[in-house]
Formats: sequence, structure tokens, C-alpha cells
Amino acid sequence: MQIFIDSADLAEIKEAVALGVVDGCTTNPSLLAKAGRKIETVIPEICEIVDGPVSAEVTATDYEGIVKEGRVLAKLHKNVVVKIPLIEAGIRAVKTFSQEGIKTNVTLCFSATQGLLAAKAGATYISPFIGRIDDVAGEGIQLIEQLVTIYANYGFKTNVLAASIRHPVHVVQCATVGSHCATLPLSVIRQLLKHPLTDIGLEKFLADNKKASEKAK
Ligand code: E4P
Repeated sequence: MQIFIDSADLAEIKEAVALGVVDGCTTNPSLLAKAGRKIETVIPEICEIVDGPVSAEVTATDYEGIVKEGRVLAKLHKNVVVKIPLIEAGIRAVKTFSQEGIKTNVTLCFSATQGLLAAKAGATYISPFIGRIDDVAGEGIQLIEQLVTIYANYGFKTNVLAASIRHPVHVVQCATVGSHCATLPLSVIRQLLKHPLTDIGLEKFLADNKKASEKAK
């Protein structure tokens, strides 16, 4: 499963990339606002740090506006993936971009029917928001499983990019059902590494090593 960093904060992105496990990056208008950055300046900077797809989201909601804005974003860097909301105008724009060879990430996906249409339009990635589904007492992971199955059934090339990931269990669930990618906040990437038995075990090994060296003197 590919791991993306879900952030527009350069320090966070650098920290995640330094681990050597990051395949791409996703941003959205809320993450840009949190980082206090403008899309046209931060996306090229992220592309210098991340060697992989970097999603940049349009804010237009009409077809012409999405296409115009998406074409500008796509020119920022060869690795830019234009992120488009799952609305009627967005699906039309995805089709246009797929004909132009511009990669797309269809965002705000909350149902398998939405994901099916995004794939038919030629989306490169679909972003189902599993944490937000769980927030309203749904089972977000079921949507990931449905989309992985539907895409495999019909040979769609669209990649399932699980989003709105809140904790390590989401990551394990996504990997178990075969999600192609998952985008994680840095806090979750850090949590993936952590296990108290590793810390306890290491402490003991280091203490024993010290004792053994002292004995051998
Ligand atoms: C990524 O593509 C999404 O924008 C992001 O994962 C949403 O996460 P949130 O539900 O925690 O805001």
C-alpha cells in the first residue's frame, strides 16, 4: 500500500519524507489554511521535497472554472495531481482531464456509486473519507472494501486513496482490504512506528549491553 502524507506543512512533509516511506502528498484548502500557505507557491515547494504525486485541490465548483483552475495547477509541476470534488461538474472535468493526460484525485467520496462514476470518468485516484464516515456512525472501511472490489471486478485503473485517516487501526484496515494507497497525517505516520514493547525491549538490550561491556573490562 502506498503511503501519502496528508499535509501542506513543509516541516511535517520533510519529517515524513525523511523516514523513507512516503510515496506522495495530498493537500486540501483546509490544510493550506492551517499551514498559512497559498497553493501556487506551496505546491512547487512540496514537489521539490516529495518524489511522487502531489494533490492540489481546485476551489471552483463549475465545470469551466474547475477545468481552468486545474490546468493552471497541473502546470505547476509534472507531479501535480489535480484534486476535484465529487460533484457533477467535477466528474465532467475529470473526463476532460483524463483525455488531456492530466492526473486527477476525486475527493469527498462518501459512497460506492460516487466512486464508480469517478472511475468511469477516468479518475487517477479516488479519495473516500473514512474518518468522516465513522464520525457519523458509519463504517468507513466498508467503502474502501467496496471500491477495491468494484475496481478489480471491471479492471478500472483508478487507485483507491483512503483519506480522512484518524488512527493506526484505519491504516491496518485499509491495508487488509487492499486499498492501493492511504494518505495519513504525520501524527498517524509517527503512531505506526510506536509499540511500548519495542521501547521496553530496546531499553533492556541497551542496559544489558552496558552491563556486559562493564563486566568485560
Ligand atoms: C485528503 O485527501 C483529505 O482531504 C483529508 O484526508 C481529510 O481528512 P479529515 O477528514 O481529517 O479532514
